[in-house]
Amino acid sequence: MCGIVGYVGERDALPIILQSLKRIEYRGYDSAGVACITDNGIEVYKDKGKVDDVIEKINYSKSISSNSGIGHCRWATHGAPSKTNAHPHLDGEGEIAVVHNGIIENFQSLKEELLSLGCTFVSETDTEVIPHLINHCLKNSGNVEWQLKEAVKETLSRLTGSYAIIVAAKGFDGLVAARKESPLIIGVGDRENFIASDVPAVLEQTNRVIYLDEGDLAVVKNDSVYIENGGAKVTRAERLISWTIEDAEKGGYEHFMLKEIHEEPKAITDTLRGYLTEDEITLGIDLGIEGDTKGKSILMLACGTSYYAALCGKHIIENLAKVPVQLELASEFNYSDFVLDGANVVVMAITQSGETADTLMALKKAKRYGCKTVAITNVVGSSATRIADETIYTGAGPEIGVAATKSFVAQLVIFYLLGLQKSLAKLPEAAFLEHLEELRRMPQIARLVLDEANGNIQKHARYLSKYDHAFFVGRGVNLPIALEGALKLKEISYIHAEGYAAGELKHGPFALLTEDTPVVAILTRQTLGKFDQNASQNIYEKMLGNVKEIKARGAPVIAIAEEGDEEVEKYVDAVIRVPGTGTIFSPIPNTVALHLLAYWTAKERGCEIDKPRNLAKSVTVE
Ligand code: AGP
Repeated sequence: MCGIVGYVGERDALPIILQSLKRIEYRGYDSAGVACITDNGIEVYKDKGKVDDVIEKINYSKSISSNSGIGHCRWATHGAPSKTNAHPHLDGEGEIAVVHNGIIENFQSLKEELLSLGCTFVSETDTEVIPHLINHCLKNSGNVEWQLKEAVKETLSRLTGSYAIIVAAKGFDGLVAARKESPLIIGVGDRENFIASDVPAVLEQTNRVIYLDEGDLAVVKNDSVYIENGGAKVTRAERLISWTIEDAEKGGYEHFMLKEIHEEPKAITDTLRGYLTEDEITLGIDLGIEGDTKGKSILMLACGTSYYAALCGKHIIENLAKVPVQLELASEFNYSDFVLDGANVVVMAITQSGETADTLMALKKAKRYGCKTVAITNVVGSSATRIADETIYTGAGPEIGVAATKSFVAQLVIFYLLGLQKSLAKLPEAAFLEHLEELRRMPQIARLVLDEANGNIQKHARYLSKYDHAFFVGRGVNLPIALEGALKLKEISYIHAEGYAAGELKHGPFALLTEDTPVVAILTRQTLGKFDQNASQNIYEKMLGNVKEIKARGAPVIAIAEEGDEEVEKYVDAVIRVPGTGTIFSPIPNTVALHLLAYWTAKERGCEIDKPRNLAKSVTVE
């Protein structure tokens, strides 16, 4: 995810563009840049770092005389954060500048084609093909505006993937913008207009906004906005925005955490994108354990929520790929006499931020053992990626709330991909394809929880918020989800919550169960007739047995159960319904439900949700 902005009007463009960028910096903050159209052509200022860092580097005393330009704040996907990879990107002649949010999936083949035509590329980005292609599509007839619009259209017809782009060109007093699967809005002003990924970018200037539709292409000048779709002129309604800037940065959600939970379906889609084609999974890394995996194993190292994702990953990979997976808390691994056979163990460090000190230390230690190392992270160019031999990126986009939510779900998706990767998986073709189909359904499943269970979860959160202690229990692939549910609840609502293996309560914690210790029990089972029916059925029966034991000790039970499971009603006090899935995929809907439960409980208790006390988003100390 990145932020893009554009301005065309009668005022000085540069300060307006920079101000707009700062307003949407939550969309990406590893580098930033602007391109202004001046009498001398296009002037570009860009660098690694935050918008403020880039502003500092721009020599204001030089004062750039420009009434139109574009800007970008980056969340790197192709190429590490650096000055050359920062946007805007230019064509070979420096006459066309482009900012882009999204991913051009076929950029490699386009780049090769353009290289063979003599183009020179300076960055590692997918975006740079766009200005070069536009240049090649320019015809020498018609006025500048028409030429540019047609060249952009032709270019877009060659792109696969997702994009929101803004194009500026030397000699043209307007901007061309287009979108596919990435958001884009136009802010309408008085003898000036604005373009941006998101409303907060323009809100200080205007509250009149046009939301572009999928496939729209717009030509924006200081006194006009022309929009077409599929080659025909279209009209899009102007809306008056009544939010404050604060509200708008959160997309209308009260907290970043709630926004980010609502982005979980998109995090799944974006993580699958690029790794999953029709019937193939290509993670693009060499694990060094493909083919004959006998004697080979994986060791996962992580902290906090990422550790729980890894624990879930262990179940997923062992179930699907039958490769043994060990797991260690990074902070413990660092000071243990761990016995590690470097030649046969692949070490995976799971870290959303890529900057967690304990995890980085563990990675370095694994390298000293001679292990092949892989970082699974959400942040391009983060320290973990520089230490590890290989990196697999999750596609969750920037996560602002301290509580990890969409990044956790994206990590799970990587484990499904790893488990199903043909080179590892020992699955028959039919089962492989069935699992793939189920995996593709996950964004929709997550969305169903958000749309249909949310109200019910709020009701149960009101109830849970009255207590000071709670347990979360699960078994198998859903034990890590119970642990994650408990961590999230304690982290943001300050309720003492313990995640436990359901079968373990009787070995001690039963002593704590009273009518004042609610227990959240994950009771989902498989969709009948799918996959490992027997194992799943067994776990479900065992969970029901555990729930009966809990009830016998007087503790109230809230179940997370599948729609249509009426049996469960007989044994519990309340039920949160989630859609049925294949067993191994049930962590996805269960996670969304538990993230919502933690959020609404904390909200009910009036907690500071996005910045819980004593915590930090990335823990860079041991
Ligand atoms: C989870 O909500 C926490 N904020 C925390 O446990 C976090 O997952 C942990 O600090 C690890 O962070 P990382 O994934 O960035 O390494």
